[in-house]
Amino acid sequence: MDKGLKIDEKVVILAIESSCDETAAAVVINGREVLSNVISSQIDTHKKFGGVVPEVASRMHIEAVSAVVQEALDEAGISFEDIDAVGVTYGPGLVGALLVGVQYAKGLAYSLGKPLVGVNHIEGHISANFIQHKELKPPFVCLVVSGGHTFIVHMKDYGEYEVMGQTRDDAAGEAFDKVARTIGLGYPGGPKIDKLSKEGNPEAIKFPRATFHEKDCLDFSFSGIKSAVLNYINKMNMKNEEINKADVAASFQKAVIDVLVQNAMEACKIKKVDKIAIAGGVASNSSLREAMIKAGKNNNVEVLFPEPKLCTDNAAMIGSSAYYEFKKGKIANLELNAIPNLKLV
Ligand code: KG4
Ligand code: ZN
Repeated sequence: MDKGLKIDEKVVILAIESSCDETAAAVVINGREVLSNVISSQIDTHKKFGGVVPEVASRMHIEAVSAVVQEALDEAGISFEDIDAVGVTYGPGLVGALLVGVQYAKGLAYSLGKPLVGVNHIEGHISANFIQHKELKPPFVCLVVSGGHTFIVHMKDYGEYEVMGQTRDDAAGEAFDKVARTIGLGYPGGPKIDKLSKEGNPEAIKFPRATFHEKDCLDFSFSGIKSAVLNYINKMNMKNEEINKADVAASFQKAVIDVLVQNAMEACKIKKVDKIAIAGGVASNSSLREAMIKAGKNNNVEVLFPEPKLCTDNAAMIGSSAYYEFKKGKIANLELNAIPNLKLV
């Protein structure tokens, strides 16, 4: 493959994302300017099963990927010849789903003679903040809260991370999805709990907040809250008492947000930084945003987050990360493979 590295002022990247249940493609210039950001969601199909069915996801990515890429180019008003590199998510995620994007991107890069850049999905989520906040530069602290991951990282420089805390069991988004299922709200649960919580009392039920006693430990645990909600529902059912779903949703949500905000602010104190970015699907939660802004004001920390469309899975964020990898000369070869449990560091 002709790597033809071109590092001038304008680098046009075609990015592809297929790690879970969205087939997405985007055209991004210099990691910050989005010319198109096309997302084909499979949610309506997976909804029927109460969660993502990996085999179905892979098949649907195969069906959608070519058309989604073409739409991204059309919307950007460019052709394949105009792109400088192809960026693609190669992990973490569902292996079959990732493979569709990776194989497609490899074929494309090879046939066009353009460089290929592999992107870590989590890093992509963090980079969504660079699209939203054009002046944002590392170092800063980032709270990553998605369906599969919950991390607090210190981003020292582009591509350089220190993990300061992470979940020891369920991810925050996973807890939202499981609790939503428990109270009969359906999939995906996060947005539904967010909405229903507005009608509930967050102080109505005391759900546990897991904290760890080791010094400077910023880890999380969400499986206890999930079980506590299940126990509460079972207890109420046994007593034949009516369950106020809005109160359950609001109280659960508050318990999760309390620990996220507390640990995130603590991380800023430890690193003596005055900027925190939030990333991942749960970053679109309206109460989390409000609580983070409030805590930020009290602690003199600027709180940043991407618009909701850039919080959940999309390819624009992958295009942003790919640019910084490209600039460092991190070009993949045709042996690039899907790595379902790819780590950030
Ligand atoms: O980042 P993402 O799109 O996919 C992963 O990489 O995992 O995150 C999806 C997760 C799901 O668990 C979904 O329920 C959650 O983000 N989510 C939300 C909200 N919107 C999406 N959770 C809470 N409140 C929301 N508004
Ligand atoms: Zn994601």
